[in-house]
Amino acid sequence: MATKETISSLYKEQYQAEPQLVAVAPGRINIIGEHTDYNDGFVLPAAIAQHTVVAVSKRENQIISLYSVLFKEEFTISLSELKPQKHSWVNYILGVVDQLVKKGCAISGFNMAVDGNVPLGAGLSSSASVECATAVALNQLFQLDLSKQELTQIAQLAEHTYAGVKCGIMDQFASMFGKENHVVRLDCKDLSYQYFPLELGDYALLLLNTNVKHSLASSAYNNRRAACEKAVEIIKAQYPEVTSLRDVTFSMLDELIKEQHPEIYPKAKYVVGEKLRVEGVCEALEAGDLAKVGALMVETHQGLSKDYEVSCNELDFLVDFIQPIPEVLGARVMGGGFGGCTINLVKKDYIDTLIEQIKPAYERKFHLELTPIKVSPAEGARIL
Ligand code: GLA
Repeated sequence: MATKETISSLYKEQYQAEPQLVAVAPGRINIIGEHTDYNDGFVLPAAIAQHTVVAVSKRENQIISLYSVLFKEEFTISLSELKPQKHSWVNYILGVVDQLVKKGCAISGFNMAVDGNVPLGAGLSSSASVECATAVALNQLFQLDLSKQELTQIAQLAEHTYAGVKCGIMDQFASMFGKENHVVRLDCKDLSYQYFPLELGDYALLLLNTNVKHSLASSAYNNRRAACEKAVEIIKAQYPEVTSLRDVTFSMLDELIKEQHPEIYPKAKYVVGEKLRVEGVCEALEAGDLAKVGALMVETHQGLSKDYEVSCNELDFLVDFIQPIPEVLGARVMGGGFGGCTINLVKKDYIDTLIEQIKPAYERKFHLELTPIKVSPAEGARIL
């Protein structure tokens, strides 16, 4: 666990001085609403305890000096030479700096040490946590006075421009706005949001990390987004009021996409269906109907696997495995997909038994470790 004390002392070893400040930003889970954010839909994420911490101080010159505790790597660049690098951890930080420069913010060079415990490539938004921790830290360090919403959008644009992933706003929003014991229902169209206490009674959320990381995940993600945009463009020609898949109905898809564009039809159909499932889960959570929540999670998984095609054998195996188990109400792939974790709604006193059953079965079949991760909603990004 990376804390203010540990990162401060690592900073001191690296830069022979105390940092001026330390900021933290968490990873996230998502209960439901997958691949809806860039379609102007709703999502239901929460920040988690796993986080990134950064320690920073100003420099008197234009030099940005970065040190990753995790990778034991240093990186130095001048503010005037900012551009995407081949190191991915560096890009999440430089992408934020670049956005600040483009906004005309008055910043100088700085030293930064970064550490964290969000598992990488597991669909828990480790990259968003680095971007948000950087944005919060630099906002304070240079007294920029940017709002949390502006910092969220800067972090998202960093991902677009320096990591090359045309992501929606969910991950950065959850990392920035997370609240302990709450999920947040975010309307990705206008960024209005509401917190709901996550009351799961005898049940808890358990993540199962497949430890599968697909190298083509970011280009496949951008392709899915392009398919959605194409569907909107076609429908808009007939229904000018439509600006995103949020405004699209099943009957519009039947009329204009199903026969004419069979390659994008399943993708658009999944998104339109997911919009309804988010509403269903919100109602079921309010009514305390966890069985319904679980059933909708499984429906989402089937859609993500068969229609949206962002699952993989390992994830499908885990979701199939839990289906006959009455103590597990539901499971699905979480986040962008192509590997990473399933999120499972499991009876608390059954968690250990589930792990004892599913871990060896998975490991025998795929010769990969299955890592269980217990999660609960935690506080969002802040200065420590
Ligand atoms: C990734 C992206 C998010 C979102 C999810 C899928 O995590 O960064 O914006 O699209 O995938 O819901």
